[in-house]
Amino acid sequence: MRRVALITAVLFLILTIITVAACNGRESLFFLQQNKAPEFVFRYAENQAADYPTTLGAYRFAELVRERTEGRIEIVVYHSAQLGSETKVVEQMRFGGIDFARVSISILAEFAPGLNALQLPYLYQSDAHMWEVLDGQIGDHCLGFLEEQGLIGLSWYNAGSRSFYTRVPINSLEELRGLNIRIQESAAMMADMIRLLGANPVQMVFSEVYSGLRMGRVDGAENNWPSYESTSHYEVARYFYADEHTRVPEMQLMSKTTMEKLSEEDQLILFECARESALYEREEWSKRELSSEEYVRNYGVEVVIPSEEEKRKLQDLCKPLYEKYAADYMDIVEQILEKTK
Ligand code: GCU
Repeated sequence: MRRVALITAVLFLILTIITVAACNGRESLFFLQQNKAPEFVFRYAENQAADYPTTLGAYRFAELVRERTEGRIEIVVYHSAQLGSETKVVEQMRFGGIDFARVSISILAEFAPGLNALQLPYLYQSDAHMWEVLDGQIGDHCLGFLEEQGLIGLSWYNAGSRSFYTRVPINSLEELRGLNIRIQESAAMMADMIRLLGANPVQMVFSEVYSGLRMGRVDGAENNWPSYESTSHYEVARYFYADEHTRVPEMQLMSKTTMEKLSEEDQLILFECARESALYEREEWSKRELSSEEYVRNYGVEVVIPSEEEKRKLQDLCKPLYEKYAADYMDIVEQILEKTK
């Protein structure tokens, strides 16, 4: 009896040792798999804050890519312009110094003038009109405009419509006359538009606009509701003139040098994930656009909605920009305008 008990105990002990060893083995195997160093670690530049819709889109992109490549490709998102201003980022991307970014096409039009055809004043009737264009053949075609510059367009992100905001009250376009208005780093078309209004364009990097407004180096700027709110510009420029003069879409980009390091299969995964992340960004954008407007209105920002007549005046004033900036791309412009009919 005693012998049987002893043998059972020994057998139980052996079984326990075998089970523990097997589990440990599997655990360490699992651990190894999970912590397998990625084959590629890429850098993604974003100039907005961590909680901004475009940054959320970037995180979603990185997450989808990690999942679908089983951790082989890791994309690290650097938000808040940690990798430099948009122009500097684009310059580095052209030679593979930065792998991915989301950039306003206002900046990109300096590298591929055809993109001006997508950001002319009062070109789109609505958000829906813009998405009909960008999600269709025109959008696909224009994603390829930067290839000669070493950049691959992956997807379109939303950036709503841009309006003026100022340190002094503005009730009509006439009152913008003589004011210094900040424009993006490189935005030739916007500079001309400001001049047509009798105001003075002042180029300034996005991250410097808050202090520019606060110190009075500029009297106003122009942007969408989420940027106006997220950057706290509303604290120093409390008058918002909602003329919605442009819709400037944004492009998610990959450096061509980066793309060439990858297999065709991985390239396809990246394209697919970029497009999915863009759909997510658009949802986040719609929510943020509303909450930002509500937030700044509650803060006490004075919002003027210009009359249709006033908007038409601005539209007429901007007509020469169509010829000057999109003469070689009139076929695209006409197709876009055609879609409103
Ligand atoms: C928008 C856009 C930015 C850009 C900024 C600007 O906020 O999302 O990418 O830098 O406008 O006015 O500079």
